[in-house]
Amino acid sequence: MGSWKLYFVAVFGFLISHTVVGVDKNNFKTCDQSSFCRRLRKLNPGNSPYELLLDTVSLDKHTLSADIRNNNYNVLFKLNLIALVDGTFRVVIDEKQPLKPRYKVEYVLNGEPTVDKLTVVEKNQNAGTIKVANGQGHSVILHSKPLKFDFFNPQNELVLSLNEKGLTTLEHLRHKPDHPKTDEEKKEDGENNDDNVPELQYQEENDPGAWEENYKSHHDTKPRGPEGLSMDVTFPKATHVYGIPEHADSFALKSTKGQDPYRLYNLDVFEYELDSTMAIYGAVPVAYAHGADGNTVGVFWLNAAETWVDVEAGRSGRADVVSSLVNLVSGSTAPLPSVRFMSESGVLDTFIFMGPSPSDCFRQYTKLTGTANLPQMFALAYHQCRWNYNDEEDVRSVEENFDRNDIPLDVIWLDIEYTDRKKYFTWDAIRFAHPNEMVTNLTSKGRKMVIIIDPHIKREGGYFVHEDATNQGLYVKNKDGKDYEGWCWPGSSSYLDFFDPKVRKYYSERYLLDNFQGTTNDVHIWNDMNEPSVFNGPEITMPKDCIHYGDWEHRHVHNLYGLLQIKGTYEGLMERSKNTRRPFILTRSAFAGTQRYAAVWTGDNAAEWSHLAVTIPMCLSFAISGVSFCGADVGGFFKYPEAELMTRWYQAGAFQPFFRAHSHIDTKRREPYLYDAQTMAHIRDAIRRRYSYLPLWYTLFYEHSISGLPVMRPIFMHFPKETDLFSIDNEYLIGNYLLVRPVTEEGVSSVTVHLPGSSTGEIWYDVDTYQPLQPGKLNQPVTISKIPVYQRGGTIISKKERMRRSSALMANDPYTLIVALSANHTAEGNLYIDDGESFSYKEGKYIYAKLNYQNNVLSYSLIDKHASYPTKAWLERVVIAGMKTPPKKAELRMLATGTSSPLHLTYHTGNDVLVVRKPEVSMAAPWNIVFE
Ligand SMILES: *[C@@H]1O[C@H](CO)[C@@H](O)[C@H](O)[C@H]1NC(C)=O
Ligand SMILES: *[C@@H]1O[C@H](CO)[C@@H](O)[C@H](O)[C@H]1NC(C)=O
Repeated sequence: MGSWKLYFVAVFGFLISHTVVGVDKNNFKTCDQSSFCRRLRKLNPGNSPYELLLDTVSLDKHTLSADIRNNNYNVLFKLNLIALVDGTFRVVIDEKQPLKPRYKVEYVLNGEPTVDKLTVVEKNQNAGTIKVANGQGHSVILHSKPLKFDFFNPQNELVLSLNEKGLTTLEHLRHKPDHPKTDEEKKEDGENNDDNVPELQYQEENDPGAWEENYKSHHDTKPRGPEGLSMDVTFPKATHVYGIPEHADSFALKSTKGQDPYRLYNLDVFEYELDSTMAIYGAVPVAYAHGADGNTVGVFWLNAAETWVDVEAGRSGRADVVSSLVNLVSGSTAPLPSVRFMSESGVLDTFIFMGPSPSDCFRQYTKLTGTANLPQMFALAYHQCRWNYNDEEDVRSVEENFDRNDIPLDVIWLDIEYTDRKKYFTWDAIRFAHPNEMVTNLTSKGRKMVIIIDPHIKREGGYFVHEDATNQGLYVKNKDGKDYEGWCWPGSSSYLDFFDPKVRKYYSERYLLDNFQGTTNDVHIWNDMNEPSVFNGPEITMPKDCIHYGDWEHRHVHNLYGLLQIKGTYEGLMERSKNTRRPFILTRSAFAGTQRYAAVWTGDNAAEWSHLAVTIPMCLSFAISGVSFCGADVGGFFKYPEAELMTRWYQAGAFQPFFRAHSHIDTKRREPYLYDAQTMAHIRDAIRRRYSYLPLWYTLFYEHSISGLPVMRPIFMHFPKETDLFSIDNEYLIGNYLLVRPVTEEGVSSVTVHLPGSSTGEIWYDVDTYQPLQPGKLNQPVTISKIPVYQRGGTIISKKERMRRSSALMANDPYTLIVALSANHTAEGNLYIDDGESFSYKEGKYIYAKLNYQNNVLSYSLIDKHASYPTKAWLERVVIAGMKTPPKKAELRMLATGTSSPLHLTYHTGNDVLVVRKPEVSMAAPWNIVFE
């Protein structure tokens, strides 16, 4: 939550209507209102002044080094081109002799990347090129003048270029001029003063905001002056560009021509607007380009400063023929898809992912930035939140009402009002007088609690965190070196400087059970407002000339602030349980690497159909950017969802990775049991379905933690040549198993579903009826209880179909296997089992098993043979869909003992479904079921 506007309503008593009026765009900069964006975006393609000095090239096993000169200024830069394993290159360009060091991002990479060998293939002095290759068949041609990098796949096809358009800029640090330079001085400084030189070279100083900048009532002192950088990346074989979350926009990125670039700057945007390139809470600077040939490449721009991204995505797969005809006639060529990153400061540090498949690219990115750790099982179950559950009695009554109505529930959340007047790490003495008892009551039923801890600290005498922070110097400083003061929920606040290891240590220790009375290992943490949100700051955040640890300005590190908070929280929760419990953290701000510590939600959305629909592209963009654990406030944060919208939202949320209902303090209460009986029944059904699929979610998160592949997946990841679905926003896959097309439209009686795979002979099965469906466009009738979900033929899903009050109570419940046969009568799927909460799986206490159906045998075998877990869960039922000729009999064979026993079969002729009842075999050891 985080509605700063309502905060002002409360504090100053302004009367602002609670009807949604939409984002107040006046609070946020356009590119034109930001000096560096304005400067960099003015540059026109062509005529790059950068030259690679060929005679400075040297090669050291895995790194090519060379000098680059900006011929306009005669300033030198140092290039390192590094070959990494797994189809990845890194390009780093820094000033050779900067006046001061430029900021190099820390904390994001998950360790030092592993290098590959790099060799010179050819040096062509006449052409001014040098060609190098890694050990994996990829090569790069560096062009000297103008500077350009061309990346080739092993088939020697050009797949990506840097500076093809000549839009690279590296503003070198310089002394602040007392007055604009005369032509004479420019000559003395070695600057070209020819009338023919491109206009750019004078713009950085001439821009009125180059050395100080005003925005509304805020003044930015910019002590280092201009230090912007940009680079264009073109994708000659692609048609679509994806990534760079977080934006409330379509999944396939749109061309930014004629509008503002996509902005990456973590901001607390009140009532964010849809179909917008505006920045919101998160910023992950990774983009992917995909083409009709099924191949993908990617680029990761490692920079934590404010960044804008221009996108050109001119060609759609289908329009190719038409547009090339048009081009033939008009003589122009359609622009190549491209992105151009423009950042305010820092070293140019970028990674190139060569793919070739979408999965390869997504893995290449998570190999660098890490994966989500395996979550506890409860984290994948249903979460109930509100700003706020008022007191202990309220918490108890919510829980009781879920139980009374047989609605599964794993977690109750407390927003800021549980604290003693917004002082984190304290409890309200009256409304939450017995936190320990409240927590114990809840957790005795296997449930958990999540409470909020924000990064701002109330400046109040006697508040221990404030006193410690003041005395020990733990706060971010303002430009004058004093503790920075801003306004947030508590009123006057200061902000912990998580960049200082001493601060992170202090902060993480606050979570220890002795230090945070009333909590237990079953209390998990929600870090909100960590963009950071500052109600009276420029663009509702911290001034850029604030100073962090190491003397870096906030400008250099802004997008990292939240990452370092959750890193501190994660370390605290680990220490709290002595490394025995997997922490759960939810964060609002996000950056590259966030997935290693926390789940993400899409912030303060609204109870509107369009906000329901946008949850899909928003979470998909996060998913391919490393952050698989994503969800949206079910029901919408602002406003009240009427029954139909609420039902549809639960149905959608039940099939998204993070499943939490949340609402604003001023909205009508809307726990599921407060709706009419029929609506409640539909909501209960949606939540129960979530619980029935928990083994699948858990398995996919386990696999994500190993492979780095997303859990929620775009269609093109598994159907990379299905050009019609490259920009679909209302469908996605869960793993390789399910296709989900939530109903996000009001009052519809049918929806169109695009089932992919006509060229590969795919079959899809409606999960409600087991009806086999052919690929293509499907007109799916939808009653209010229908959730359009389809299981892919060729997969086996493990489910648990006995309904309990919480996931913990299901641990020993039996499994039902849903075998969906492919056209060639095969199917396979994986299942992961462990204790659901501890780290003992890291010592081999787990089961990772393969289920395979082939040649009339269903087999259950261990993938990791050295691991084991004494699960009490057993197999209750096997459902085989697509069984055209029923077997006469079936037999269970235990592989360890060689014993076998006959099984009971039921065949449903109407839909070709075979049911094996009660095999009653343990899931702890391998077995086969043989059909004859
Ligand atoms: C804990 O549960 C008991 C038994 O239901 C109840 O009497 C008590 O009030 C609860 N305590 C809190 C703090 O909710
Ligand atoms: C059956 O089809 C699947 C794809 O649907 C394929 O991966 C598999 O190799 C095929 N198996 C056989 C035995 O042909």
